[in-house]
Amino acid sequence: MSRVLTALQPTGNLHIGNYFGAIDPLLELQEQGNENYLFIVDYHAITIPKDPAQLRKNIIYATAVYLAAGIDINKTTLFQQSRVPQHTELAWILNCLTYMGELERMTQFKDKSRNKGETVSVGLFAYPVLMAADILLYNTDFVPVGEDQVQHVELARDIAKRFNNRFGETFVVPEPRIRTSGARIMGLDDPTKKMSKSAESPKNYISLLDDEDDVRKKIRSAVTDSESTISFDPEHRPALANLLTIFSLVTKKSIQDLATEYKTKGYGTFKGDLAEALVSWLKPFQEKVNGYLKNEEELKRVLDKGAERALLKAETTMKRVREKIGIVL
Ligand code: TYM
Repeated sequence: MSRVLTALQPTGNLHIGNYFGAIDPLLELQEQGNENYLFIVDYHAITIPKDPAQLRKNIIYATAVYLAAGIDINKTTLFQQSRVPQHTELAWILNCLTYMGELERMTQFKDKSRNKGETVSVGLFAYPVLMAADILLYNTDFVPVGEDQVQHVELARDIAKRFNNRFGETFVVPEPRIRTSGARIMGLDDPTKKMSKSAESPKNYISLLDDEDDVRKKIRSAVTDSESTISFDPEHRPALANLLTIFSLVTKKSIQDLATEYKTKGYGTFKGDLAEALVSWLKPFQEKVNGYLKNEEELKRVLDKGAERALLKAETTMKRVREKIGIVL
């Protein structure tokens, strides 16, 4: 049995990229009888200032989203990162094994710190080390993530190997699991950049909360190109390839079948049908999310239970780590 782990930041803007990049692959792995962990990384979220009331709301919302997506708490340990203090404890130890140069090379740090000069927080810089701790605490074999997180998982691999070399075999060296299609959903307004919750314009993404009018408007205004037929050509026609990928993910039809079906139907029909497919996919999902949100106390109980289970695992690893580094007397 493999151990599978992934995590997402709590945000009110969880989008279809997050869903298809990380949640959907975990759902598949959950059904294969693995030991699964899914958690809400609230300590990662505060590396960028967050309004406390909003953060709290987003943690609850994320819990509802995972349950609505099909996370089964009997098969997956679902919890909130900050409830398991071993994450920050291990992160400190790993900080002492990680080089500044490694963190300076992280492309996400470069992107997020651009133009911020001296005011970038230490937390934003050290964020990949906390992520390594998240992964290594649970002896994780596979980490389903979107493409943008692969560099961070690779750093976790390097840190695990370094620790094992220095202190003896302790951590499993994890592997990223990236799906062949959907690991990098691009922005609807700019197919050269990934769909992102922090994008300036909401026209960049389809949020899991968007209502049907939003979805129709956003798809209508999505960038395409000046050609007249539909074909799948990610290199030369990235905008259209992205829309075909989304269409395929929500309908479970193959990209090639969709490209053939819409080849000569024109962009208007293609976009109209894509919008309707998205609406039909989102509507029942949103109804489920709203159902879960009606009972916040139950969501909190789910997180309490998850934290209890995660704590046991995390503490087993930490006991070994404390002994290995020589702080247990
Ligand atoms: P986050 O919250 O930014 O994103 C959550 C997941 O969504 C994926 N993703 C995408 N996939 C496809 N297309 C996109 N446009 C797209 N945008 C985002 C991300 O790759 C990610 O899998 N640092 C992580 C959270 C984290 C984590 C971990 C993940 C913390 N600890 C341990 C795995 C294991 C993050 O900020 O993801």
